[in-house]
Amino acid sequence: MKAAYFERHGGPEVLQYGDLPDPVADKGEIVIDIHAASVNGADWKVRAGAYSQITEFPYVCGRDFSGTVSGIGEDVDEFALGDAVFGVCQVGQEGTYAEKIAMDAKLVARKPDGVSHVDAAALSLIGLTALVSVEDTLALQSGETILIQGGAGGVAGFAIQLAKHIGAHVITTASAGNHDYVRGLGADEVIDYNVRDFTEAVSDVDAVFDTVGGEVAMRSFSVLRSGGRAAFIASGSTAPESPRDDVRSLRPRVGRDRPHLERILELADAGAVTVPEVVTYRLEEAATAHRVSEGRHLRGKLVFSMR
Ligand SMILES: NC(=O)c1ccc[n+]([C@@H]2O[C@H](COP(=O)([O-])OP(=O)(O)OC[C@H]3O[C@@H](n4cnc5c(N)ncnc54)[C@H](OP(=O)(O)O)[C@@H]3O)[C@@H](O)[C@H]2O)c1
Repeated sequence: MKAAYFERHGGPEVLQYGDLPDPVADKGEIVIDIHAASVNGADWKVRAGAYSQITEFPYVCGRDFSGTVSGIGEDVDEFALGDAVFGVCQVGQEGTYAEKIAMDAKLVARKPDGVSHVDAAALSLIGLTALVSVEDTLALQSGETILIQGGAGGVAGFAIQLAKHIGAHVITTASAGNHDYVRGLGADEVIDYNVRDFTEAVSDVDAVFDTVGGEVAMRSFSVLRSGGRAAFIASGSTAPESPRDDVRSLRPRVGRDRPHLERILELADAGAVTVPEVVTYRLEEAATAHRVSEGRHLRGKLVFSMR
């Protein structure tokens, strides 16, 4: 199979395109012929070695995919060859920047005909992350106000739509060129963080969902009402320590499971969420896609369209 992979950590230039052995379905697994896979904010950090140093090369990154079943392992009876499926690799597994992957059949959901492979791949990990963060972790309620940091990004773009669907008042931060875009997703108020300090523009919100990290994350505590809560997905694997003792700092535990994938489809089918803006690349262009993702001003999603 063809794949985009790297043989050492480094900049986008370490990504190569070439042949790797086809995967084989183990017990409980299916092999999927990948039609589309998305680029996520974590991918360039994995490539750069920012999380932990990988020791086995070549390494294929990529966490979400959409495709068709082309191999079925022992003890799998719920899928047939040719079924269209989508999903996210289990935690710790990567490898969707490739024409094929073998993965646990239980974590995969059926892709309806009305959703394209590109859209299913675009929605998988961002949808899962936004659902676990906004619904499961923050337990956002109708009538509450939420500040979503980094509104033009992929996860935030799903989260804005989800928060509106729940019935919340949504405030977000974005550069001026993205204001129409985030308003189109449902944001009620947009702060241009380049010209206005969000801590002066916002106060007493019930919840914060931070997708930016760094000092943006740390300063977000100050805009919460007493008793408010904040969820952080770009500040490492644990929640940052809150400087206030009257608010909660939370790190969503984004596992992988089929019910969350089906909830994404349910929301899309109901018209509650649409696919964020998508730019497609060929797998051969992985280095270019990483340069865009690493630039930190990507709007929506980048997706590799492979077939
Ligand atoms: N399971 C997990 O925990 C999980 C899953 C998915 C993603 N993540 C993490 O979540 C983060 C977001 O990922 P993503 O792929 O959704 O988006 P992303 O590509 O990392 O975010 C890009 C967006 O961030 C905005 N941005 C940059 N600096 C900003 C600032 N100071 N204030 C407000 N907005 C700012 C940019 O908008 P402008 O151009 O308007 O500035 C751009 O649209 C990443 O760190 C990723 O690793 C974690």
